[in-house]
Amino acid sequence: MNEVLQLGSEYFSSQFSGAPDGLWSAPGRVNLIGEHTDYNDGFAFPIAIDKRTTVAARARADRLLRVTSSSFPGVVEVSLEDLDPDALTGWAAYPLGVAWAMARAAAGGASGGASRMSGVDLALTSDVPAGAGLSSSAAVECAVALALNDLWELGLDSQALARIGQLAENRVVGAPTGIMDQSASLLGEPDHGILLDCQNLLTETVALGFAVAGVGLLVIDTRTSHSHADGGYASRRRSCEDGARRLGVGSLRALGPDDLPRAAAQLDGQTYRRVRHIITENQRVLATVAALRASGAGAIGPFLDESHLSMRDDFEISTPELDLAVASAQELGAIGARMTGGGFGGAALALVRNDDAGKVAGGIARDFARARYTAPHIFPVTASEGARREL
Ligand code: GLA
Repeated sequence: MNEVLQLGSEYFSSQFSGAPDGLWSAPGRVNLIGEHTDYNDGFAFPIAIDKRTTVAARARADRLLRVTSSSFPGVVEVSLEDLDPDALTGWAAYPLGVAWAMARAAAGGASGGASRMSGVDLALTSDVPAGAGLSSSAAVECAVALALNDLWELGLDSQALARIGQLAENRVVGAPTGIMDQSASLLGEPDHGILLDCQNLLTETVALGFAVAGVGLLVIDTRTSHSHADGGYASRRRSCEDGARRLGVGSLRALGPDDLPRAAAQLDGQTYRRVRHIITENQRVLATVAALRASGAGAIGPFLDESHLSMRDDFEISTPELDLAVASAQELGAIGARMTGGGFGGAALALVRNDDAGKVAGGIARDFARARYTAPHIFPVTASEGARREL
């Protein structure tokens, strides 16, 4: 057993005594490109990263759910009957929200799954940084969903599990987020990006070829917090829905660059800029994948850079810290850089030649110190395997 699994198993025993029935894990994600496109039925291109949440779990003979996390004190208990989305709060809302959403899916399904559902003890350990825009929440949701799917023998596929994680986040945590994070966490593959078409949840894995090209990704966690249950994320989503309605389409996915003049004529300035971000971002995702396939990783930089400008100026979800991280990475020779995730804080990513990684990381840290910003946390990530049963 590797060290992480050993820790997860030991943590379970220290909280609940005895051994778990199994261990499951799911990674966080970094979105290479395609931001706020998911809830607009558009394209996104995330990777699963080499930082994971592990769940050690054991079925119980009764109907009690007990959940504990090495990041928070105490054990939260609730019976399956009492799972109420409005009553779940704090960190436990993520794992218990998933249990609620799974129970709901099982009750509605044809499998008769509800009758197989028992209580479960769940112990979570994680090395996905929280609040950094790396989807630590999706990692928890997907690891728990996979564990319960196995223990309750529900036989749900990845798409259904992704929707369950999303439902937990939307309904229980109260963040009106899309399907990207859970999809990346469930479907990731080593050295591959996941091209997601959020209109029909079709996915394609695309070889990144980073190792061959001698390049890699640096995450710059600005350590400025963000929460998508706050107003900014929801208001961007509302603007997009409003823009689609006023332009007479079901979602912004239905629009392309040719529609921009009409959008400019019909919409107020702010809604137009929100719409323009989505339309151009969808194009950039497809252009990135095409460039990667045709010319390799060294060719995708300009799309990353343009994506950042679009988020800064049109979607207005960047922050001074994220802008500095990106500008500084670019000046220090990064192939491309952009903020990543929902915005309003969190992390930026930089695609760098491996030989330049130290120089870029050191330079960004210096620029942050000069600006008197909190020292960023800068680390490499690699594309890794999605959620899986470990033991
Ligand atoms: C957050 C949400 C995702 C997605 C991104 C922005 O990570 O959880 O669904 O909307 O923001 O691309």
